[in-house]
Amino acid sequence: MDKITVVGAGNVGATAAQRVAEKELARQVVLIDVVEGIPQGKGLDQWESAPIEGFDSRIVGSNGYEESAGSGIYIVTAGIARKPGMSRDDLLRTNAGIVQQVAENIARVSPQAIIIVVSNPLDVMCHVAMKASGFPRERVIGMAGVLDTARFRSFLALELDVSVEDIQAMVLGGHGDTMVPLISYTTVSGIPITQLMAQDRLDAIVDRARNGGAEIVAFLKTGSAYYAPSAGAVQMAEAIVKDKKRILPCSAWLQGEYGMSGLFLGVPCKLGRNGLEKIIEVTLTAEERAALEKSADAVREPMKLV
Ligand code: NAI
Ligand code: 2OP
Repeated sequence: MDKITVVGAGNVGATAAQRVAEKELARQVVLIDVVEGIPQGKGLDQWESAPIEGFDSRIVGSNGYEESAGSGIYIVTAGIARKPGMSRDDLLRTNAGIVQQVAENIARVSPQAIIIVVSNPLDVMCHVAMKASGFPRERVIGMAGVLDTARFRSFLALELDVSVEDIQAMVLGGHGDTMVPLISYTTVSGIPITQLMAQDRLDAIVDRARNGGAEIVAFLKTGSAYYAPSAGAVQMAEAIVKDKKRILPCSAWLQGEYGMSGLFLGVPCKLGRNGLEKIIEVTLTAEERAALEKSADAVREPMKLV
C-alpha cells in the first residue's frame, strides 16, 4: 500500500504508527495530531529508528490532512481520556466531536480510504465516523474485539501454560463490561476449553478479560492500555493491506445480522482488500445470544446522546 495514516499521535496512535512502519505495511506512514510538534517529533524519532530496525516505510508527522491525501487506511485514535469530574457522557460528546471532524477530513482528502476506528466509546465512535465520512459500512470498521480476544487468549495461555498461538477464541459484543466471550467456540488446538479447565477458573478468566482495560488503567493511573490496542489495530490493517481474508472480531454496522440492525457491534468479520468483506453469522447458545442482545442494548443507550 502506498500510504497509511494514523490520526492521534498519543499512546495508541504513535505505537500503531511504529508497528505499521516496522511491518512495512505501507511505503509512507503519516501521523496526524492537533498538538503542534508532537506528530512531527514522534514521526522523525520513529524514522530515525528505521536504519536500526531495518524498515523503509517513511514516517512523517503533520498537523493537517493534506499530507495524508490518498491514504488507503486511516487508523483513528484521536480523542481524550476521561478526566476527574468528567462524566462518561461528557467524554462521549467530546470524542464524538473530535471523531466527526477527523472523519470529515478523511472523506475530503481520501474519499476511497478504509477507516479503522479505535477512539472510545468504540462502537458509538464507529457510528459517528460512518455518518461523518459518508462511507459505506465496508470501509468503517472498529477495533475492540481483537483486543478483548487477545486479552482472553493471553490469560487462558497463562492458566494452562500453553502457547498463546494454540488458543482460538472470539469475544463479541460491544467494547465494555458486557462483551461476550464465546466459550462454545474457545478451543486449544481444537480441544474444547471446557475439557481442559474447571468452570470456576474459566469464569474467573472471562471476568478478567471483561475488566482487562480497567486492570491496566489501575496500574498506569494516568492513561490506558496501548501496546495491545495498537497491535490489534495494526493486525486489522495488515489483513486489509495483504488481502488476507482473516476472520477477526471487529465492530461492524449490522444490517440484519444476528437479528439486529442500525448499530455497530463486535461480530466475526472477514477482512480483505475491500475492508469488511463479510460478517460471519455463527450459531450461538441461548445464553450467548442473550448476552449479545444485552451488549447491544448497552451500545444503543449512549448512541442516543450523539
Ligand atoms: P492519548 O491521550 O495518548 O492520545 C490521544 C491523542 O489524540 C492526543 O495526542 C491528542 O492530542 C489527539 N487528538 C485530540 N483531538 C484530536 C483531533 N481533533 N485530531 C487529531 N488528534 C487529536 O490516548 P490513547 O491512549 O492513545 O487513546 C486514544 C483513544 O483510543 C482513546 O479514546 C482511548 O479510550 C481509545 N482506546 C480504545 C481502545 C479500543 O479497544 N477500542 C483501546 C485503547 C484505547
Ligand atoms: C481498553 O480496553 C481503554 O478501551 C481501552 O484498554
